[in-house]
Amino acid sequence: MAYKIMGITAGRKNGNSEILLKEALMACEEAGAEVTMINLRDFHLIDCTGCTACTKAMSTGKHAGCVLDEKDDKKKIMDVMLNQDAVIFSVPTYDLMPASVYLTFAHRSLSYETSFLETIGAIEHKDRVAGLISVGGSTRSWQSMALEGLQATMFTTDMKVVDMLLATRVPAPGQCLLDDKLMARARKLGEHIMEAVQTPADQRKWLGEEDMGWCPNCHSNALVLGEMQWDGLHYPVECQVCGAGGTLEKTEDGKWKFVIQKDGLLKDRTTVAGRAKHLEEIAQTQGGFFSDPVKIKLVQEKKAVYAQKKFKGIE
Ligand SMILES: Cc1cc2nc3c(=O)[nH]c(=O)nc-3n(C[C@H](O)[C@H](O)[C@H](O)COP(=O)(O)O)c2cc1C
Repeated sequence: MAYKIMGITAGRKNGNSEILLKEALMACEEAGAEVTMINLRDFHLIDCTGCTACTKAMSTGKHAGCVLDEKDDKKKIMDVMLNQDAVIFSVPTYDLMPASVYLTFAHRSLSYETSFLETIGAIEHKDRVAGLISVGGSTRSWQSMALEGLQATMFTTDMKVVDMLLATRVPAPGQCLLDDKLMARARKLGEHIMEAVQTPADQRKWLGEEDMGWCPNCHSNALVLGEMQWDGLHYPVECQVCGAGGTLEKTEDGKWKFVIQKDGLLKDRTTVAGRAKHLEEIAQTQGGFFSDPVKIKLVQEKKAVYAQKKFKGIE
């Protein structure tokens, strides 16, 4: 049976994100894949309201879905997306990060927490891979959170990112077509996706540039100074995306590199085990609140002032 590969974009019609995605998908199609492609701009997508009905149900072992399931196209897309072997996301960069059309789509994935749905038997386990393309008018300097923003949205549906491409300096629609190297790299990303889906899941690995980014674990290019975490864990430096912890060291040739420490992958967000640590945090912080009538009452009392306080708005 042919591998199922889906392309999801959020760029202008016939714009750079669409073109680069199509180039990658053509490589997949030529290798025999069954390809589906959508542009999120063609769909009705409502922002997550933050009601947390989905996660509250999950915490009691139930699958409630999303309260907006019947109101827009998110479910229609997810029913297809979760049935793929691989998905390539190609998203324009707006204000250094992925465009909001994509983020609206991604933030609605909470009710599709795949490891949870698999655990309760609502869906079958599937080892999916992903390729990410961020497209902007500038260099990395003005796309500093673009790929990293996309990476951060891969955890909920447990997509293993095997390649990433930052398409730079292509502001005008279709301008990417003037850059043969960029087009070839997009095609390569498609080839990498095909290579990954044909590799047994436990042997799949990063296929992009070996030295891409700071983080040797997830290849993000973003580090933050570590701060004390809820359970007392403290890393000097953390990868902003996967949460790997370690420190900066100078190599013999005078360059800086991020070295992950021994227990630095304890909370690796790219793995189900690492994310489970975050569930422990939620259980402690949020669960500790909802199971404590004294705290709930105190918040209700203090809240009244803020609920009654009104400022001038905009008509
Ligand atoms: C609201 C807005 C904000 C943008 N912000 C950035 C930015 O921060 N960095 C950047 O490199 N390009 C930025 N751009 C340029 C787009 O990323 C660029 O035009 C890209 O080619 C759009 O992709 P598309 O052709 O697939 O629509 C911005 C464009 C718009 C409309």
